[in-house]
Amino acid sequence: MKIFITGGCGQIGSHIAEILLARGDEVMAIDNFETGRREHLPERHDNLTLITGSIADKPLVDKLIGEFRPDVLIHTAASYKDPDNWYEDNLTNCVGGGNLVQAAKEFGVGRFIYYQTALCYGTNPSESPVTLNHPKNPGNSSYSISKTAAEDYLELSGIDFVTFRLANVVGPRNVSGPLPIFYSRLKSGKKCFVTEARRDFVFVGDLAKASVAAADGTGSGAYHFSSGTDIAILELYDAVVNALKINEYPAPDVHPLGEDDAASILLDPSRTYQDFGKIDFTPLETFVALAVEYYNEHGTLGEYTHLKLKDGKET
Ligand SMILES: NC(=O)c1ccc[n+]([C@@H]2O[C@H](COP(=O)([O-])OP(=O)(O)OC[C@H]3O[C@@H](n4cnc5c(N)ncnc54)[C@H](O)[C@@H]3O)[C@@H](O)[C@H]2O)c1
Repeated sequence: MKIFITGGCGQIGSHIAEILLARGDEVMAIDNFETGRREHLPERHDNLTLITGSIADKPLVDKLIGEFRPDVLIHTAASYKDPDNWYEDNLTNCVGGGNLVQAAKEFGVGRFIYYQTALCYGTNPSESPVTLNHPKNPGNSSYSISKTAAEDYLELSGIDFVTFRLANVVGPRNVSGPLPIFYSRLKSGKKCFVTEARRDFVFVGDLAKASVAAADGTGSGAYHFSSGTDIAILELYDAVVNALKINEYPAPDVHPLGEDDAASILLDPSRTYQDFGKIDFTPLETFVALAVEYYNEHGTLGEYTHLKLKDGKET
């Protein structure tokens, strides 16, 4: 197959590209290296073309998709690293997303795979677990508003698509959320703090496999890619401490939940299991160890968070 991947040098995009290249598919990837790294894709590969550029550049997107004529478009690129940079979020997530959907429609791309944030349900969803019928309520951040606009365009387009709505996807090459923050603070001997929140963390390699199944034709419409069980943030912290083999346990401060912070965001995965079959989720200790191994070699990059925090502190 011919597959066009946006954000090919990011965490999720590069793991998908790895599987596709290993089985002989032809991959064209685009990245502007905002949060991705060049070394996440092979330096040279006969079946890989890597374009340095932005999905917000419509003439470029049209040219690439018009000439490459992919069977499937896997859209993982996103802007999120500065919650105050609405312009960049708009350019990449709305304009870029719209460009891709239109080009896919114009040039007859067979399938479109998208990655939506669970923040599309708001920071305080009205049910737990959150079902796919929960209304969208993305007004909590520029990231979530702009990501939801692209998903809405996709739904409008009539293209055959799968959208994976995600809570927390982690593993090697993860640059956002608590995992890289815990790693870099613990490494430099700084105290960490955790909130009483619980979250569902899934391994990027497991999502990459499901993405390839989706590219091959499995499923249609919206899915929650989630294990259906949540863990305390403290358990994630403990797993990082264990993976770092720190002798004396550095107890973190535990902060109460903020006003807008959900105690738990648990996504109902039943439709995913129905259409994609049983998923053997990689255990937390395994993927945290893999992430720590990666950070030891490459560093954490930037420890971004897409949520604007009231007191300016990271969570
Ligand atoms: N990781 C998670 O927990 C999570 C949760 C919810 C949704 N998602 C979604 O999954 C997708 C992938 O996330 P990830 O964890 O791999 O993030 P990531 O930051 O590792 O990857 C995103 C990639 O997109 C690239 N990019 C950004 N702007 C671009 C542009 N204008 N043109 C081309 N490339 C651009 C970045 O450089 C990066 O390589 C995103 O769409 C994100 O919104 C991720």
